[in-house]
Order: sequence, then structure tokens, then C-alpha cells
Amino acid sequence: MGAQQVRDGFVGLYGAEPEGLWAAPGRVNLIGEHTDYNDGFVMPFALPHVTVAAVSRRTDGLLRLHSADVGGGASAPVELRVDELTPESDRDWTAYPAGVVWALREAGHAVTGADVHLASTVPAGAGLSSSAALEVVVALALNDLFELGLRGWQLARLCQRAENVYVGAPTGIMDQTASACCAEGHALFLDTRDLAQKQIPFDLAAEGMRLLVVDTRVKHAHSDGEYGKRRAGCEKGAALLGVDALRDVPYAKLDAVLGRLGDEEEVRRLVRHVVTEDERVERVVSLLESGDTRAIGPVLTEGHLSLRDDFRISCPELDLVVDTANASGALGARMTGGGFGGSAIVLAEETDVPAITKAIEEAFATAGFTTPRVFEAVPSAGARRLA
Ligand code: GLA
Repeated sequence: MGAQQVRDGFVGLYGAEPEGLWAAPGRVNLIGEHTDYNDGFVMPFALPHVTVAAVSRRTDGLLRLHSADVGGGASAPVELRVDELTPESDRDWTAYPAGVVWALREAGHAVTGADVHLASTVPAGAGLSSSAALEVVVALALNDLFELGLRGWQLARLCQRAENVYVGAPTGIMDQTASACCAEGHALFLDTRDLAQKQIPFDLAAEGMRLLVVDTRVKHAHSDGEYGKRRAGCEKGAALLGVDALRDVPYAKLDAVLGRLGDEEEVRRLVRHVVTEDERVERVVSLLESGDTRAIGPVLTEGHLSLRDDFRISCPELDLVVDTANASGALGARMTGGGFGGSAIVLAEETDVPAITKAIEEAFATAGFTTPRVFEAVPSAGARRLA
């Protein structure tokens, strides 16, 4: 769906031109999984897939929300009052944009209502941050229209608060920051403790490589509860070790630290994943900065094994992508995002892409799994105003 269609959709719904059009992308995470709520390092990049929003201000306290992607776009806009928004009152898609309005108002910003029409090309439920794209596009539009003067990382924080408190999902800060702050042709090296950012050039095509996203189309029903359990386990680990967050456990002292966890075997595995994953992010950054891009492949695969064996959030479909890709000549592969389904990424030489894709599709057919959706991910722009 193009920007013009979103503008036309807005006019059809609300009977006037929107004041503007904005876009915010989904993301894949190259490396740094389940580190963001441990104050650690992540390295996502933005996808070309975006959520587009057409938005106009209102001054009468009314928030009208409509999505072209819900119910075939045929339903009427949902009408809410900005002064009646209540956390965890809404289990529908509208909780995300409404949560952003709530978070902005909670932070003291005078958002007095809006008409919103949205359409997205970010695959939903695929672990590619369609919800962060939805939050960030609305936050950016309101930031511009109400002249709030907030920076990308500040919008990301408010969107995370919308998701944590209003929607009620205990996620970290990675997805919203990726959608708000990524730059075309770059991966974003983010320190989630202070939100310090560094854009790392990541142009695989120029070096004859490709990064594939394989959406397994698996969405595990219990994933939200499992995410919260992992997060709680990490917090328990930090408390047992007397640190603010697992980010504070030095990689060089990991063995000794793990020895201090006594019979807490589960916590030990979680701690080992987080501490080694932070080290993998730093290793990938230094490999990319020294121009040794192909060498990141094995680090990605190491990360997958850690998520599979220590963090225990993979699933048979994700493991099959990684194993098949690596057996067919990929440079490396791993699951990406929250886990329990969603997508995996595969780093490969351009010339090997057809054979690897075919091998994955055949392996899925043989296993009786739903045909995965495979596409190439090109590092794309972060959230922006279109018109
Ligand atoms: C989800 C969350 C992120 C992050 C990842 C795992 O995408 O929204 O905050 O924790 O899982 O790395």
C-alpha cells in the first residue's frame, strides 16, 4: 500500500486531507537478543517494510483510529477520548496507537486528539516489530503536528512505555529505537543502558552478500508469558550476583561468576546467554569496522545456539532454517527477535541464495511445516515524514 493510497483512505474516512503522512519501519536484529532488558548491546537494522500513517490534529479530545489492515479496512474508525485512556483496557490493535497518545499525555505533552489512518507492509506476528512500527509512526506524527520537539530516542522511550504499561507487554527498548533511529545502509549499534548509538555501515550487496529473512509463520501462543519468565529469570540472576543488570557481569570473569550461582541451573543458563551475547555484539561491531564482514557469519550461528540451548526460546522451525542454511553453504544464521517462532536471518554469498532458499523450502515441505516466506533484507531508513 503506497502513501497516496493511505492519503486517499484518510480522505474517504474523515472527509478532509490529512495534515501529513509519516512512515516507520519494522526491523530485524542482526545480533544482541534478549540483551535489551539487561542494559546490554543490540544491533538491529530497519527493513524496507513500513507502517504509513496519515494524521491530522484535533482539539476536541477525540482520538479516531483506523487501519486498512484490520477487517479488510471496511470497519468504521474506533473513537476514543484522550482523557479517558486507561492502561490495559484494550486488547485490540488500537492499544498501540492509543498507548502512544496516553504515554505522551502522561509525560505532560498536550496532545488534544487526532484523526489517524494507517496501513502497513510489515508482516504481523513475524517477529519483525510490526507493533513498534505502529507505535513509532504515531509518535512521530504527533511529535511533528503538536511541535513537541522530541528526539528519536525520546519517542522510542515513550513508545516502550506505551507497550509496557498501556498494552502490558514487558518488552525492552530495541524495537522502538530501531524503528525511530535506524539509517539506510547501516546497522544501529545501541547501548540500551544510556541509549548511546553508533551507525555502523552495513552494505552487504556491495560485498557480494545478502541477508535473507525467513519468516517461519510460527506464532507461539504462550510466547508473551515465556518472554516475561526469561526477563524475570535475568533479573533474578542480577539480584543473586549483586549487580544492577546482567550487563555489569564482565565476560572475562564469566566462569567464576557462573560458579557463584550454586544450584540455580536455569538462572545460570540465562546469565551465560546474556553475557556471551553482549560479547558477540561487540565482536560483530569490531569485525564490521575492520571490514571483515564474512567473519560475522559464525558469530550469528553461535548466537543461535546460545538462544536454543541456554536461553531456550527457539523452536523446531527456527532450528531447521539455521541448520539447513548452514548445511547449504550459508555464512551463518540465527533466529531474530523474541523467539518461539517468528523469523530467522541467514547471511549468504549472493550466488548461494537460490540454493539455500530452495533447501530451506524443501526441508520445510519434508518436515510437514507451513511454507516459510523468504525475502531479502536491505538496511533501510528509520521513521520519517513523507509529506
Ligand atoms: C522482542 C522485544 C525486544 C527484545 C527482543 C529480544 O522483540 O520487543 O525488546 O527484547 O524481543 O531481543
